[in-house]
Amino acid sequence: MDLRTQTLPAAGVAGVAADALLVVVVGTAAPRGLDAALAPLLADALEHGDFEFKPARVLYLHRPAGFKAVRVALAAATEPTPKAFKAAVAAGLAALKVPGVKRLAVAVAADDTDAIDDRHAEALAVAVAEAVYVYRHTKPSAPAAPALAAVTLLCAKPRAALLQRGLVRGQAIAAGVTLARECANRPANHCTPTFLAEQARALAKSHGLKAEVLDRKDVEKLGMGAFLAVARGSHEPLRFIVLRYQGAGKGDAPIVLVGKGITFDTGGISIKPAAEMDEMKFDMSGAASVLGTLRALAELKPRVNVVGLIPACENMPGGRAVKPGDVVTSMSGQTIEILNTDAEGRLILCDALTYAARFKPQAVVDVATLTGACVIALGHQHSGLFSADDALAADLLAAGAAALDTAWRMPLDTEYDEALKSNFADMANVGPRAGGAITAAKFLQRFAKDLPWAHLDIAGTAWKSGAHKGATGRPVGLLTHFVLARAA
Ligand code: BES
Ligand code: MN
Ligand code: ZN
Repeated sequence: MDLRTQTLPAAGVAGVAADALLVVVVGTAAPRGLDAALAPLLADALEHGDFEFKPARVLYLHRPAGFKAVRVALAAATEPTPKAFKAAVAAGLAALKVPGVKRLAVAVAADDTDAIDDRHAEALAVAVAEAVYVYRHTKPSAPAAPALAAVTLLCAKPRAALLQRGLVRGQAIAAGVTLARECANRPANHCTPTFLAEQARALAKSHGLKAEVLDRKDVEKLGMGAFLAVARGSHEPLRFIVLRYQGAGKGDAPIVLVGKGITFDTGGISIKPAAEMDEMKFDMSGAASVLGTLRALAELKPRVNVVGLIPACENMPGGRAVKPGDVVTSMSGQTIEILNTDAEGRLILCDALTYAARFKPQAVVDVATLTGACVIALGHQHSGLFSADDALAADLLAAGAAALDTAWRMPLDTEYDEALKSNFADMANVGPRAGGAITAAKFLQRFAKDLPWAHLDIAGTAWKSGAHKGATGRPVGLLTHFVLARAA
């Protein structure tokens, strides 16, 4: 898709030729100096109650007199924030979503158009990609994706370069989000550990990254006893993926992103109830977000090194499956009593964290659909952020805010560690139900002792349930912004 800025024609928005024109009206009253063609339209719509200055209110107009565009939509953003702007764009696109729209133009009506900057342009690019995404891989009967081919953001000439940078950033993030959604939406009989490794290899080839894929024998040699314990219940072979982006000097300490790649989580011998178990195909969303982030970075080429690590396997019951009470030795040498085989995410991640240390990283961030408890704590709004490193936590929170892909910090006090005591190993893999997201993070922390480490629990944010069931592609935006900020 072609995304670019365009200077507003002298005739104003009415002179814009497009299949559809979306005007985001910013504020809580008609903006000063409003376009001559828009002013009477807006006044009339307000008078008749067809438009209000309420978040994401939309007025659709077909071939309004005097306009070159076939379709026009006005969408309200009550605040000049990127968040309100993005919501208005999404609502406007929903109203305009018709097969005939190939060329979309977006204009902003605001008291102060200088308040509209690259963050808004980025939000536009991301919102457009979100709106046109259709999952089709195993549903060829799904309606074809909208034919939208070109989006132009109208602006005054001096603003064009700044806004263009935002569009480019947004488009790269959107490509990463789409890749993550596409991987995570795929059912587990398609999206296997082998498939994830192929995706990594394909991405390396197309985007100039380096991919290395380890198999069971390699993982055995490394002594990843915790990862192996999870994988052993399944006939599907495990993979450990190492994907590298080099944007800085060889000696520069990289950022390591670790993604949980459980391609299906039955719970293992501690089997899950049947209801909604299908959604456990999304249990590789952390892995998908790491792939998506590397894709975005490969397009944006920041001057920083990044390593993606993905332990990938299925969690299945079976004759060879790990059993409650089994004790395994992790790559770190610490032993783990597996009291609940459904707490498998931390078992594959702990060995990946030990592996991460070899890169002498400037930061390690693991991303995982780790606990149902995190969904109870934070719902679907924020990802859970855990880190003992205040500076790293602040960077991640800021990145989430900038990307409109937010996280909320959770505690890691030493007192929570008690819960992991075991009579038969250095630690148990679960504690009591209370504070479950925190004890999971405390477990991981034991394997990141000497690392500048943070953990994102995305169990509530990685996918939607119900009628709109599907992957969100979060937290590709957060992670991409985090890396970009470290490079700046
Ligand atoms: N993948 C799940 C976490 C999950 C559950 C995410 C539901 C989203 C929705 C994870 O492997 C898991 O099963 N966690 C257990 C941990 C428990 C056994 C301590 C959980 O949350 O129930
Ligand atoms: Mn589980
Ligand atoms: Zn899981």
